[in-house]
Amino acid sequence: MVPAATRVDTAELHYDGHVYPLPVLEGTEGERALDTQNLRKDTGLVALDYGYKNTAACKSAITFLDGEKGILRYRGYPVEELAEKSRFVEVAYLLVHGRLPAHRENERFSELLTRHSMIHEDMGQFFKNYPEHAHPMAILSAMVVSLSSFYPELSQGSPEEELDFTTTRLLSKLRTVAAFSYKKSIGEPFVYPRHDLKYCANFLNMMFSSPVCPYEPPPVMVKALNVLLILHADHEQNCSTATVRLVGSARVNLYASIAAGICALWGPLHGGANQQVIEMLETIYRAGGDVKKVIERAKDKKDPFVLSGFGHRVYKSYDPRAKIIKKSCMEVLDTLQVKSPLLSIAQELEERVLADSYFAERKLYPNVDFYSGIIYQAMGIPSSMFTVLFAIGRLPGWIAQWKEAMEDPEFKIQRPRQIYTGPAMRNYVSSAER
Ligand code: SDX
Repeated sequence: MVPAATRVDTAELHYDGHVYPLPVLEGTEGERALDTQNLRKDTGLVALDYGYKNTAACKSAITFLDGEKGILRYRGYPVEELAEKSRFVEVAYLLVHGRLPAHRENERFSELLTRHSMIHEDMGQFFKNYPEHAHPMAILSAMVVSLSSFYPELSQGSPEEELDFTTTRLLSKLRTVAAFSYKKSIGEPFVYPRHDLKYCANFLNMMFSSPVCPYEPPPVMVKALNVLLILHADHEQNCSTATVRLVGSARVNLYASIAAGICALWGPLHGGANQQVIEMLETIYRAGGDVKKVIERAKDKKDPFVLSGFGHRVYKSYDPRAKIIKKSCMEVLDTLQVKSPLLSIAQELEERVLADSYFAERKLYPNVDFYSGIIYQAMGIPSSMFTVLFAIGRLPGWIAQWKEAMEDPEFKIQRPRQIYTGPAMRNYVSSAER
């Protein structure tokens, strides 16, 4: 249940000879909001706010972030501590259930994830009909919405049990679908999940094992994947989470809401940026490594080019996740003894951007997507799979946010207003008179 915000003050709207009181609400960390839920009823006005830059769509008890201070916490726990001390499966439980699991609960959750890791053999047939160049994000979204046909809601059992089952099914099967879509893209046979491997090791095994070459997931890659998935696990009301909530507000089932979130995440301005970053760095590398040119392009208002991996709607300081990912990137490349020319280009690009007043004035810093692709590439994961990894990480956050929205006592279908600026009323004219 979403705890209430506290009414701490009243603002006044002076309009059309009237004074309208607007309650001011305050959240746990002192964030304040104007409660405008009666604005149109009382004043006839609506609030116009492109991109919802100034608009809170809900109260939430899941993730707190402070963009000015670079703070990110899941259910109150700093993401730095979770990345260092926890594991992705435990963080998934924390996000969905609101607390860290006791040892026995963690074991049971892990065992359920193992038990639900297979997908129906008939779903495996779907892959055969995709062209090899099909983008894995398209496959992922289609497969997730198809899960509702293969795993309809349980008829018996309480809603909590039902959600527990659906949550573990989704968390486990999304990882399997992701690995199968990779195998499909390289024309190799699917590698099934193994019950003796934990979440991240199982995924890496499904990705890189093959019938002719046994594979042992390197511990440094398992650790790095755990950290990356934890860092991507939730991020309050970002575009894809807002999509999951919006679609869910029509009382759509969890699978269909998540499938919509996957499509939103695919966008190059959102989760798709991690693939764009690598492609941008590779373009710079192939053109001789001159980062100054892309920086000039990014500053040229006539050029639609943006520096992927930089800037953020909320972070106006260094994205705390980017700091951790950058450190993990060095560790992985060092341990795997991978020399990545793209890393030095990325470091030079970051250095120049941070020293350039154009970006400083606009508070543009590296975000979560800037270094993640370099790690994935060093692990042997192709760039077309980067946003899929983002989706696997973000899934527990989407589920937690969807669940919170469905249980919110102030639940409403989401239906924004608009300001109409089209033609005034006019009558039909027959084609002979046009
Ligand atoms: C994610 O919301 C989340 O939490 C998202 C996310 C999550 O975990 O869910 O953190 C994940 O999506 C991270 C962002 C990944 N996207 C990119 O890396 C794409 C590149 N970034 C930009 O497209 C942009 O910064 C956005 C989309 C991320 C944010 O856009 P905003 O908040 O709408 O900011 P804006 O476009 O109004 O930019 C403000 C100014 C503009 O210049 P002026 O008009 O003021 O002169 O900054 C400029 C922009 O032109 N600007 C950039 C830039 N980002 C903003 N200029 C060059 N390169 C960039 N990357």
